[in-house]
Amino acid sequence: MVSRQKEVPGFAMDSYFYGSHLAYKNELENLLFRSWIYAGHVSEIPSTGDYVLFEIGDDSIIITRDREGKVRAFHNICRHRGSRVCEHKSGKRMTFVCPYHGWSYNLDGSLRPPRDMQVLKSFDKDDYNLLSVSVEVSQGLIFINLDTSATAFSESLKQIEAPLGAYKLQQAKIAQQKTYSVNVNWKLCLENYLECYHCANAHRNYARMHTLKELSSKVSDLNQAMLSRAEAVTGVSGIGLECEKNYQDALHFGGCVSSARYALYDGYLTGSEDGQAVAPLMGEMQGFDGGAGDFQLGPLSFMLNYPDHCVLYRFVPRGLTETDMHVVWFVNGDAEEGIDYDIDKLTWLWHSTTLEDEFIIKRNSKGVNSKFFKPGPYHPEHEALCIKFVDWYLRNLII
Ligand code: FES
Ligand code: FE
Repeated sequence: MVSRQKEVPGFAMDSYFYGSHLAYKNELENLLFRSWIYAGHVSEIPSTGDYVLFEIGDDSIIITRDREGKVRAFHNICRHRGSRVCEHKSGKRMTFVCPYHGWSYNLDGSLRPPRDMQVLKSFDKDDYNLLSVSVEVSQGLIFINLDTSATAFSESLKQIEAPLGAYKLQQAKIAQQKTYSVNVNWKLCLENYLECYHCANAHRNYARMHTLKELSSKVSDLNQAMLSRAEAVTGVSGIGLECEKNYQDALHFGGCVSSARYALYDGYLTGSEDGQAVAPLMGEMQGFDGGAGDFQLGPLSFMLNYPDHCVLYRFVPRGLTETDMHVVWFVNGDAEEGIDYDIDKLTWLWHSTTLEDEFIIKRNSKGVNSKFFKPGPYHPEHEALCIKFVDWYLRNLII
């Protein structure tokens, strides 16, 4: 199926890839378990023992802060007979105690002497620490990679440090986060995010503010005008940096990044109902330039950053036809809810846009899963990132 699909570059993928258990298993092992994925923000685990769970496929990863203040990640799998050692999605623990036979683990993953195991002469408890997961913290964002030999993500992230750093996400606050669970294959959610061909049809509110739905030649004047004032208005040098290291163009496998800034229509300062600010300026931003920053942070995570708030998107499979679309709204760390921002106004655009996406993705899934579906061509500009994704997917699905 992979070679057959490769014979039609630029075309949407065959039903097979959205409904095959074999393809799904390969995707997890060969693509997603080797990729850097956003797993949380430092503000979710401010002190020792705080933890959050990140769930992908059937797997669960514990993200915690150890006694030295270091962020750590472990497989949520007991080294005795495999039970989950942590059940609740977030909380605080000084040890992770397995509910089955009581083996317990310190925050650095080390196993404490397990009850009665001394009778097994060959048993060395140091052989049974929790399995660690690669973890990196960049600008307050926590990324994990299930490949313990993965190349560091920091080198890739450096390429977009100037424009992303402007928002000082390490000092930001999560105003809201939501998981939208959809009963479709994860690639349909991801492909939908990767293109804005659907925006004019499906997202009326988004479309009246954002120029991204148009061919770039149609809005080049607006983009040029925004870019020429962006540095002066925001006070951030390099805010308009363009970097396109998506998918196969990544420096290292699973560490793709991109950055671009595009214009909002005149009269819109930010992505809000009336175009007016919905929160205080983020980080180093000194003003509204009429632009929005668009970022990719690994194959499954993205950010859309306005001068006054940032929205993070992550698409994670939970099964062959189950996907979590996770959305996080960040505001300046000093901003206070009810005084500096109103949560409904802040989240209005991307909450309603995500519901619209859910609507179209579910219908897309129904057609794609029919045996009569015959894939058509992607639009070379509007859907260029889908073409790049499919190319990366097909090249790496089987190793
Ligand atoms: Fe965890 Fe037995 S499976 S203690
Ligand atoms: Fe959409």
